[in-house]
Amino acid sequence: MLGNFTYYCPTRMYFGDKAQEQLPNAMKDYGKNVLMVYGGGSIKRNGIYDDVMNGLQSSGKTVIELPGVMSNPTLEKLNEGIRVAQENAIDVILAVGGGSIIDYSKALSVAAGYAGNAWKHFFLDQADVEESQNVIPVGAVLTMAGTGSETNGTAVITDPAVPIKMGKMFGARVAPRFAIMNPRYTFSVSRAQMAAGIFDTMSHVMEQYFSGDNDCTTDYLAEGLMRNIVESGRKAAKNPEDYEARSNLMWDATWALNPLLGVGKTADWMAHMLSHAVGAFSHATHGMILSATAVPYYQYILPYGLKRFARFARVVWNVDARGKMEEDVARAGLEALHQWILDIGAETSLAKQGVTEDMLDGIVSLTLSSMNVKPQGYKLLDRDEIKAILQKSM
Ligand code: NZQ
Ligand code: ZN
Repeated sequence: MLGNFTYYCPTRMYFGDKAQEQLPNAMKDYGKNVLMVYGGGSIKRNGIYDDVMNGLQSSGKTVIELPGVMSNPTLEKLNEGIRVAQENAIDVILAVGGGSIIDYSKALSVAAGYAGNAWKHFFLDQADVEESQNVIPVGAVLTMAGTGSETNGTAVITDPAVPIKMGKMFGARVAPRFAIMNPRYTFSVSRAQMAAGIFDTMSHVMEQYFSGDNDCTTDYLAEGLMRNIVESGRKAAKNPEDYEARSNLMWDATWALNPLLGVGKTADWMAHMLSHAVGAFSHATHGMILSATAVPYYQYILPYGLKRFARFARVVWNVDARGKMEEDVARAGLEALHQWILDIGAETSLAKQGVTEDMLDGIVSLTLSSMNVKPQGYKLLDRDEIKAILQKSM
């Protein structure tokens, strides 16, 4: 461990197939007015809405609903939320959904208490939240595993008018105070969204793993997580109602971006910056953009991080290295990754996600201009290299 760090996770996690019963307990420390944020209505079809309402009513809370938060939540929707939160003297925000809903709630928790233009200040200018600023506490009822948004302080918001998709790492003060995590809640997620969530999780781990070359505890933790994501991902693809696999995947996703795996080391995040730029230009699913670009990207940077890619092949994919050149071992690891992407039903083509050739130059420019964290992978890509990787991912 060569890096210096402070690690603090303020989220109380209630995990298991009865986790929702803890909602009244989790809510008792917060005021009466609850803003319940949710998406397009899946929670009304799968019974989660009723569970949450029962929990809130038994706690004597007044519930104000804010439905209709879309995947890749927009600035326009954020502005609507600011108005609702300010008109209703909200004490606590309860996010019921996946990463989009939780991200939106975190962005709102800060934006509602900021007098100026929150989008410009926090997202475009990347300003930090002042100690004196009010931040509404957020709790989460997680319905889909993948982003890790349930315990981290990050929010990603899109302005399709520009277009731009920006993440802001607000930190622990904005991270959910608690997360209700019932793996059974994820059974109704579509197969495609499940696969996207599994690959998003894997990508979070890989992007922190493929950086640096010192001996670091967090890289060993990453390897353990990746081995489980691979195994549980295959099991879940065969049987989405395999509770053991889905519970492992939920817990893997949390730790993949908690941000425990980032401590004491550098991280790459190039794939995510690329993914956010693609997401600004298209309606492609976040995890599917990552799965479509991963193999072309890693094949390209492999020579610059050969040792780490060979270790990845041996430890995560059980590639037998005996008698082989290091580069062949490393390449075998990426072949195994490609096969696994197919096995779990994730995407291997950006074109199939609605990305067209005419978007590519804009995506490259946006990737380069919105690098709010400088990638520290094995190779910093230039314009032509990013374009070539995107073309290979089509
Ligand atoms: O709209 P609803 O009804 O909620 O339906 C959602 C949505 O259509 C559905 N869904 C969720 N739980 C379900 C369900 N359908 C049936 N049963 C359930 N139990 O799934 C669809 C996708 O949901 P969404 O929340 O958009 O997915 P995800 O969790 O992948 O979140 C994606 C967003 O998170 C951001 C992404 O950029 C994207 O905007 N990220 C956030 C990160 C963070 N906070 O750290 C990091 C990630 O890398 C990522 O950037
Ligand atoms: Zn992600």
